[in-house]
Amino acid sequence: MPATIVVGTQWGDEGKGKFTDLLAKEMSMVVRYQGGHNAGHTLVVDGEKFKLQLVPSGVLYDHITPVIGNGVVVDPFVLLTEMDMLRQRGINVEKMVVSGNAHLILPYHQQLDALHERHLGKAKLGTTKRGIGPAYADKAMRLGIRVQDLLDEEIFREKLQTSLGHANKVLTKVFNRLPIDPDQLADKVMSECLEGLAPYIGDSVNIIHEALEGGQHVLFEGAQATFLDLDHGTYPFVTSSNPTAGGACAGAGVGPRHIDRIVGVAKAYVTRVGAGPFPTELFDDYGDKMVDIGREFGTNTGRRRRPGWVDAVMLRHAVRLNSLTEMAITKLDVMDTFDTVKICVAYEIDGKRVETLPYHQSEVHRAKPIYEEFPGWKTDLTAATEPGHLPEAAASYLRRLEAQIGVPITLVSTGPGRSQFLHWDS
Ligand code: GDP
Ligand code: IMO
Ligand code: MG
Repeated sequence: MPATIVVGTQWGDEGKGKFTDLLAKEMSMVVRYQGGHNAGHTLVVDGEKFKLQLVPSGVLYDHITPVIGNGVVVDPFVLLTEMDMLRQRGINVEKMVVSGNAHLILPYHQQLDALHERHLGKAKLGTTKRGIGPAYADKAMRLGIRVQDLLDEEIFREKLQTSLGHANKVLTKVFNRLPIDPDQLADKVMSECLEGLAPYIGDSVNIIHEALEGGQHVLFEGAQATFLDLDHGTYPFVTSSNPTAGGACAGAGVGPRHIDRIVGVAKAYVTRVGAGPFPTELFDDYGDKMVDIGREFGTNTGRRRRPGWVDAVMLRHAVRLNSLTEMAITKLDVMDTFDTVKICVAYEIDGKRVETLPYHQSEVHRAKPIYEEFPGWKTDLTAATEPGHLPEAAASYLRRLEAQIGVPITLVSTGPGRSQFLHWDS
C-alpha cells in the first residue's frame, strides 16, 4: 500500500508542483489534501508552462487519476475554468474525482476575505483573498456547504440560505456592505457549475482506498507549506488548513500507517509571500538577485516574494513536524552566479545560541541568524542531471545542508523544466 506525501517545508512556492509532476510518473493517483486556489503550482514540460491552482499536479499524465480530497476548499467556478484551460491545451481531465465532502468557496467568502484584510489594516496577513479563511471558518462553524450538496438542489438552496444568512449579517452589519441574494447566487451556481462538475463528484475516500488496496502508488500533493500551517506555522501569518504531512491523513481519509515516504521540498534559499516573521530575510543585492533570477513573483497573485538565505533551523523543525523521510532541494541554479552562499545553522536570541525553533514567536521575531558561509560555484547548473555534473562547491554546499537538516537530500532541481533535476547521493 505505498503512499507518498510531497510537502512544502518553508513558506510555500518551494517547487512542490514540479516534484509532484516528476514523482507522478511512477504513481497511479495524485491527491490534493488541503488548501484551495490560494495554491499556485507551476509545471514546465517541454518548454510549455502550466499553472495549476486546484487540479492536482499529476494531471499532465494520462495514467494519473487526479483527486481533490475532502480537506480541500473548492471554488467551483475556478475549478471549471481550470479544467477547461487544461482541456483546451489537450490535457485529459476526465478521470478527475472531486470529493463530495470537500467544502465550497463561494463569492461571499472572497468578499469577506478582502474585507477582513482591510479591517486588519496594518496588521493584515497578506492573504491571497481567495476566500480560504472564511470558507474554512464556515466549515468549522458547521455553516459550510459541501460539494455533494450541489447534487441535491433543494438541500443546496436550504444550506445557502443558512450560510449566506449568517454571512449577510456580517456583510451588512459589520462591514456596511450590501447583502447577497441567496436565490440569485443559487441560480448562478446551479446554472453555471452543476452540469460541468456533477460527473466528477465522488467518494474520494473509497477511490483512494481501492487504489491503495490494489497496490497502486498514491501521491499526496501538499499545497502551501509547513510554516503556513494553521497549527505549526507562524500564526496568525498562516493559511487556514494543515499543509503538514498529518494533514494528508485527515484531508484525504487515510490513516498514518499507509504513508511510507514523505518528501519535503525546500528551495536552496527561502521566500515568503505576505506578512510574518522571517529570520533570514534579505534586503540586499543577494535578495534582489534571488527575486530576479528566481522570478520570485507569486504564481497566483503576482506579488513579489520576500527572499532570504536557507534556514536549517526551520528545516530541522519541518523534518520533525512532517516525519520527513527525505528532502528535495529546488532552485539551486538560481544561485549559480553568487560569490558566496549561506546557510543559517542556528539563531542568536538575546545573546544565546539556539539551534531549535523557539516555540515562543516573540523569540522568532528577535532571532538573528548565525550563518555558515561558502564560496559560490560560479557555474551554470541548469544542464546538470547527475551528481557528477556538480562542481565541488555546489556538492559541498548540498552535503553541509544535508548534515544540517538531518535527513538525506535525494533530489535536486536545477531548473524549472521536468528534466532539470538529478538524483543526489552524497
Ligand atoms: P509550488 O507552489 O511549491 O508548486 O511552487 P511554484 O510553482 O509556486 O513556484 C516555484 C517556481 O519555481 C515555478 O515558477 C517553477 O517553475 C520554478 N522552479 C521549480 N524548480 C525550479 C528550479 O530548480 N530552478 C528554477 N530556476 N526554477 C524552478
Ligand atoms: P503554494 O501551494 C505561498 C500565503 C499568503 C498569506 C497566507 C494566508 O503555491 O505554495 P490565504 O489566502 O491562504 O489565507 O493566505 O498564506 N499563501 C501562500 N504563499 N504559496 C502558497 O501556495 C500560498 N498559499 C497561501 O500569501 O501570507
Ligand atoms: Mg506556488
